Amino acid sequence: MKTISVFKRLKDSNEKIAMLTAYDYSTAQVLDKAEIDAILVGDSLAMVALGYENTYNITLDEMLIFVKAVARGAKNSFIIGDMPFMSYNLSVSQGLENASKMIKAGANAVKLEGCNDHIISLIKRCVESGIPVLGHLGFTPQLMNTLGGHKIQGKTSDKIEAILESAKKLEAAGCFGIVLELMPSESAKYITNNINIPTIGIGGGKYCSGQIVVTDDILGKFTDFTPKFVKKYANLHDEVLKGVIAYKHEVKEGLFPSNKESFELNQEEKEKLHS
Ligand code: KIV
Repeated sequence: MKTISVFKRLKDSNEKIAMLTAYDYSTAQVLDKAEIDAILVGDSLAMVALGYENTYNITLDEMLIFVKAVARGAKNSFIIGDMPFMSYNLSVSQGLENASKMIKAGANAVKLEGCNDHIISLIKRCVESGIPVLGHLGFTPQLMNTLGGHKIQGKTSDKIEAILESAKKLEAAGCFGIVLELMPSESAKYITNNINIPTIGIGGGKYCSGQIVVTDDILGKFTDFTPKFVKKYANLHDEVLKGVIAYKHEVKEGLFPSNKESFELNQEEKEKLHS
């Protein structure tokens, strides 16, 4: 069973951390078999698995269903549950109680977006209570309306310094790592080089301590939109479409099911039907 120590060990040994998202049992089984360093049950599932336009509509109770499914499929992996919009913003006690639900559902850690006094207090309380926290800076989808849309962050030296200052606060509060989303490679490099915990890039370039992407994006299963930082390692959408069309054709033509996929009645019973 992987633990939080993996992150420190990989950073200390200069080995890149490879993380992916999973939302369901069978995908979690594959990621577990591939020994991916950690699995994030991201709130991106709101779009990718549930068809919402953004992450705002997913609730904690819905997230817990997916966390439980992933935990059943990935028995050896380190699983991080993404705290959805407004499940931790009202008060420290609300955030702590909801983070504990993630752990009870099978996550080994939680991810929180942003950095302000409230988030810092919450991270401290989680860590004191035995709940490891992964931070998330740069483009933070739950703050999309305040950030003014999907915009690359950290494009000027003062903005980079501001993100670094937040990163240092998250580190001091006890985060074991920080996701850096959507920023120039050099900005993420500067932040990575000036903190002691690993950075996990998504659209943050090659200098981060590790990478995370949405599995459905890199396997070409989710096709509504493809961000520039996504590289496709498979084209599952087309493969699945091909399979579905072949199935439809065979049903229409009476080719499926064949005897191979059917059950036979024994001779004696068959004869009784004819008498
Ligand atoms: O929800 C998500 O999938 C994320 C990314 C960091 C992958 O937060």
